[in-house]
Formats: sequence, structure tokens, C-alpha cells
Amino acid sequence: MTFKGKDVIAIEDFSKEDIVKLIDTAQDFEKNMEKYKTLLNGNVIATLFFEPSTRTRMSFQAATYRLGGGVVGFSSISTTSLTKGETLKDTMRIVSGYADIIVVRHPKAGAAKEASEGSTVPIVNAGDGANEHPTQTFLDVYTIKKEFGKLEGLKIGFLGDLKNGRTVHSLTKAMSHFKPEFHFIATESLQMPDKYLKELDSKGIKYKKTADLLSVSKELDILYVTRVQKERFTNQEEYDKVKGLYILKKDFLKHTKPELRIMHPLPRVDEIDPELDDAKQSIYFEEARNGLPVRAALLALILGKVE
Ligand code: NCD
Repeated sequence: MTFKGKDVIAIEDFSKEDIVKLIDTAQDFEKNMEKYKTLLNGNVIATLFFEPSTRTRMSFQAATYRLGGGVVGFSSISTTSLTKGETLKDTMRIVSGYADIIVVRHPKAGAAKEASEGSTVPIVNAGDGANEHPTQTFLDVYTIKKEFGKLEGLKIGFLGDLKNGRTVHSLTKAMSHFKPEFHFIATESLQMPDKYLKELDSKGIKYKKTADLLSVSKELDILYVTRVQKERFTNQEEYDKVKGLYILKKDFLKHTKPELRIMHPLPRVDEIDPELDDAKQSIYFEEARNGLPVRAALLALILGKVE
């Protein structure tokens, strides 16, 4: 397989078989974590986060520790030489001397690619601006497989900020391997960008756009909810116009199939009322937990510790 020594920059660099391989490996890791507790002895993973993160950074770190490895890094640039004017490429070149894999999150689209040009060790993109978030996608696909027992032929609604939501961009690409039907549910200003829709057209994937959640909710197997990405707005007024437009409450479940599953990469702001948290349809906390075995499997595959 193709993970060993490889960068993880964009989901399109991974085939359907690669994705299936990763989720199978993650399943084994979830069941048998104890067996792998010394797998990364002597390895160092760097987590360089130029943007806020809770789940992504901590699950990479926890996964590394659970496999017996160590972590270096930062979660804010304020304490690093980047504030002295060091370039991203130079930073990557330096950290390549200290770590075996560099996990990087950055506000600029394309930053992960740029980082890989400075680095001599594999780069893992933990989110580059509004572009992609491939490791979130791996755990989302893992969650879907775990929940439905299959990936093929699902009807998936994406709700919220589809323009800026990088997890949506990466997940639609990955699920395109599995004959999905997509419903993009958002206001016109936050709809799925044309460049992603064109890709779906070229692959013959069925999709529809709407602003009316209740017009499609009954059909869906999965509703993937996202936060309006405030940090991508240059203008507070524009943000105020679109925030809080979709808020799911318990009565939403009257308009869905009982088998619907609600996902969200988290953090949520107000788009899912906590009164929904205990519903069997809500699987977003389970989804976040799945980050650990999936990221553990990914690190082990890239380092060639498992095949
Ligand atoms: C997402 C992200 O950073 O893109 N968070 C995450 O990694 N789980 C989603 C978001 O911030 O809205």
C-alpha cells in the first residue's frame, strides 16, 4: 500500500483501496490498542498548529503516546521563531531534523503543500485554511463504516458553511468513491463552491443544492452538520447575516427517517441544540472519539510500522 513515507496533503492522493486499508487498520487499532503500545517507541511526532484546535491536535498527540512515541510542537505561533519572521519552509526544514512526521494546521489554503516542500519527513495536513482536512475525512469515513456497516450508496446531506468548511470538501471527495447521493443544504452565499461541483459532475456523482433542509431531510441517511466558519469571514456583518440560520432541535427528528445519523466534525456553536445529544441519531461525540484509532493507524502506516 502507499502510506509508507507518504505525505497526507489532499484526499485525492488516496485511492478507494487506500481509504479502505486505512479504516481496516484503524479498526484493528481500536480493538487491540494494548498490543501496539510500544509500536512507536523512539519515534517523535511534531504537531505544529498555526490555528486553534482541540480534537485534531490532541488526538494526534494522544495516539502517539498510546503507541509509545513522543510529541514536540506548538499550538500557537506566539512562542516560536515564526514571530521573528522565519518562513514556513524554513521552520519545516528545521523540524524535519527533530521529528519523523510533521502534522501541520495552517490558516492558508495550500500551506500543507508548501510545508512539504520545506520538509524532508512526511507532512500530514491537519487543515489548511478553507481547503482540505484529509484526516478528519478518514475518521468521518471510519465512523460511517462503523455505523452503517457499509460505505456504498448512502444519501448524505451537508448542512451549514459548505463554502468554507474544509471537512466537507475533503469528505465529498472521499465518499465519491462509494456511489453516494449528495444534498448540499446552505444559503446561496455559503453553498458548495463550483470547483467541487465540477469535480462531482466529471465523476458522474448525483447531487442537489437547496436552502430548504426540511425539503430533503426525510430522504437522508446522514446529515453532516458544520459550523459557520467565522474565522474565514473578512467582514463581521457578512457573518452576522448567515450565523444561526440552521439550528437543529429535537423536533427536527420528526422530519427524518429513524435511521438517520447526524454527524458534525465539531466544534459546534449553536447549530445543534444539546437537547439532541442523547438521541440515537447523534453520533458526533463518537465521531470525535474515532479520531484516536484512525490517527494512530495513519501514523503507524506512514512510519511503516504496520502494513
Ligand atoms: C474542523 C476544522 O478544523 O476544520 N474541526 C475539526 O478539526 N474537528 C471543523 C471546524 O472547525 O468547524
